[in-house]
Amino acid sequence: MTEHTGVEIRLDHVTKRYPGQEAPAVDDVSMTLPAGRITVFVGPSGCGKTTTMKMINRLIEPTSGTITMGGEDVLSMDPDKLRRRIGYAIQQAGLFPHLTVAQNIGVVPGLLGWDKSRVADRVREMLDLVGLDDDFAGRFPRSLSGGQQQRVGVARALAADPPVLLMDEPFGAVDPITRGNLQDELLNLQSELGKTIVFVTHDFDEAVKLGDRIAVLGPRSRVLQYDTPEAILANPADDTVAGFVGAGASLKQLTLLRVRDVEVDRDSAVTASAVDSVADLRTRMTGRGAQWALVLDRRNRPSRWVHARDLAAATSLAAVGKPVGDSVSLKSTLQDALEAILTEGGNAVVTGSRGEYLGTIGLETVTAVIARLRDEHAEVES
Ligand SMILES: Nc1ncnc2c1ncn2[C@@H]1O[C@H](COP(=O)(O)OP(=O)(O)OP(=O)(O)O)[C@@H](O)[C@H]1O
Ligand SMILES: [Mg+2]
Repeated sequence: MTEHTGVEIRLDHVTKRYPGQEAPAVDDVSMTLPAGRITVFVGPSGCGKTTTMKMINRLIEPTSGTITMGGEDVLSMDPDKLRRRIGYAIQQAGLFPHLTVAQNIGVVPGLLGWDKSRVADRVREMLDLVGLDDDFAGRFPRSLSGGQQQRVGVARALAADPPVLLMDEPFGAVDPITRGNLQDELLNLQSELGKTIVFVTHDFDEAVKLGDRIAVLGPRSRVLQYDTPEAILANPADDTVAGFVGAGASLKQLTLLRVRDVEVDRDSAVTASAVDSVADLRTRMTGRGAQWALVLDRRNRPSRWVHARDLAAATSLAAVGKPVGDSVSLKSTLQDALEAILTEGGNAVVTGSRGEYLGTIGLETVTAVIARLRDEHAEVES
């Protein structure tokens, strides 16, 4: 983590009333967004997410209430200076079409009066950070794909190394796979940068994946629930939040649990080394009534699954059976484990940090977790 960690943001009784509208768009919202964490605003269209976010960098002025950033009152700061301390990324990237990628990324450093060579260095560094090579520097936004434009948008928002980053549906306009990649990259970046990030989305899955905290907003930005993704999934505050969390809540929780959180079956498979004798393995399998065994390599890493019937004609264990496909580690999510179980068509192999065999995880373990989560939900609801 760099020295440029984020700062806390506080909204205190913030209200926004647009001229000529009877009801406020944002009504008396109070919230503390922790320093160096990602807080996600999630809620239906028109509930006031963008309005709430834009009051933080004063693209919209609150009607009443106070907002502080690192303890400083943003309403008494010069708006231009304030905005240079807050990166801002939006849907469709919002790049200047007549500027090159490099010029787009260099806008805020330029405004801050950095000299040319420092800006150029920074542009290269930012391109690298978001996974684009130097060739992109001279290109214009229209010649980039949607995902590449979003990357440039994020690079531009980060260029002046602001402590705060506001992101308003920044990945809303790209296909699901690119979106997943951009989300992963944002999480990697954040683990290095430790900014205070406010991220707006109306996709609850995206909120669960990215948020350290999620604020579920209702009409007029009323805070329906403000908590960790785990707590919201396990215990939605009311029917509206429950509806938003959706029917697949138990399945979504699989992405929050790791293989290390459940029992890995350390004794489920009969194991053998590739140099063991076929006859010996056959005896041990018969003794355990096992149809399958796992052959490990010299460094104790799982290499092949062998079925009892493969052994009938085999003379050595070196090449019988089928290679082990997808395996998972203790850090993998239960969602990953479920996928591996389904693709392996049986138990998924669990390996340690050096790839060594630790045990297996089976469908019944994941099913039991889902059932337990479902029961917990039912208890909360009754
Ligand atoms: N400049 C404006 N003048 C008047 N009303 C506005 C203005 N901007 C937004 N509103 C209204 O304020 C409410 C909140 O809008 P806002 O854009 O903050 O919602 P949002 O949650 O970001 O929605 P979306 O998910 O569709 O982006 C809406 O009813 C909208 O019509
Ligand atoms: Mg919006």
